[in-house]
Amino acid sequence: MKDTVLFKRADENELISAARILREGGLVIFPTETVYGLGANAYDEKAAYNVFEAKGRPHDNPLIVHVADPADAEAFAVTTKLYYRLARAFMPGPLTLIIEKKHNIPDEVTAGGGTVGVRCPSHPTAHRFIELCGVPVAAPSANLSGRPSPTRFDHCVADMNGRVDAIIDGGECEVGLESTVALLKGDDEVVILRPGAVTAEALSCVCSRVSSAFELKEGERPLSPGMKYKHYAPRAPLYLLDGERRDVIAFVRGKMKDERCLFLCFDEDAETFSDCRDRTISLGGEDDEALHAHRLFAALRETDVYGETHTLDAIYTYSPKKDGTGLSPAIENRLLRAANHTIIKVK
Ligand code: TXA
Ligand code: MG
Repeated sequence: MKDTVLFKRADENELISAARILREGGLVIFPTETVYGLGANAYDEKAAYNVFEAKGRPHDNPLIVHVADPADAEAFAVTTKLYYRLARAFMPGPLTLIIEKKHNIPDEVTAGGGTVGVRCPSHPTAHRFIELCGVPVAAPSANLSGRPSPTRFDHCVADMNGRVDAIIDGGECEVGLESTVALLKGDDEVVILRPGAVTAEALSCVCSRVSSAFELKEGERPLSPGMKYKHYAPRAPLYLLDGERRDVIAFVRGKMKDERCLFLCFDEDAETFSDCRDRTISLGGEDDEALHAHRLFAALRETDVYGETHTLDAIYTYSPKKDGTGLSPAIENRLLRAANHTIIKVK
């Protein structure tokens, strides 16, 4: 067990101390606009190794490298014209670009591969912290492997207290889902490996060939190693209910009679469930996708907390919209994986 320093003020002095810890080989959790990251000096092989150990993460799943300025990636990666075009449009922001790496990035960071993910967060605390570190910061999401990514300081403390050297409190992460991961090919092509807040439509404004490779078909090898692992799973099984809203509600009300279950609902359902409000967690208004994204991982963690003091047999929620625009592919991707692709048709 380590003595984890909790930097609650996250002021300049605390960020200077946190950056020193990282530079000296320590592990520091920091907030970003997507989710919290578990940072290490990307040039320090031993520190990178310790990131995997602290998370319980398989060593074949590469880390992404965070920079304060997109041009800082030149020190460890081959930055192309396409990289700068995308960086100018979307960085700082919730986008990770996969490009060719240089030799000074240890294999431990890239899991032995020839590419590296580069991300430049827009969160002011992340930006200042990385700047003060003075080295690129390798950081996966700061959850224990397999758990929902942390979007609040208390999530990081719950998973990582005693396993890392420091945690910086940056409040709630605005986006709530991890960055879009995009593989760059040639002069004008990107392949989306993980959907996020930078959408395919947005990328298409800068690059003429945009495709997606995040829904694996049977027997396909994932381009992004992270896609093969079960993720985001709450402890109780999560089921996605596909059907008309009133049929979903009737189904859940029926289940509530004979099962200990929770319903991840919308604000509009509050009245219908007013007699059992403690068994619902709202993701926000039905049409407010940004709020659903912002709240999803926190809601999944809330079900775990509920399960610590109650029997919990199941969690139900609406099957995600499949309109393929905006945040919906990212929300759908996380929900499907959290539910292990279990969809129940209701009518
Ligand atoms: O928003 C985010 O991206 C957060 C914050 C902390 O920046 N980080 C994050 O890291 O989500 P992580 O490690 O939890 O997810 C990174 C994903 C993994 O699925 C990994 O397999 C993929 O990116 N990845 C990283 N480097 C890669 C590479 N060189 N080639 C292909 N996929 C890569
Ligand atoms: Mg992760």
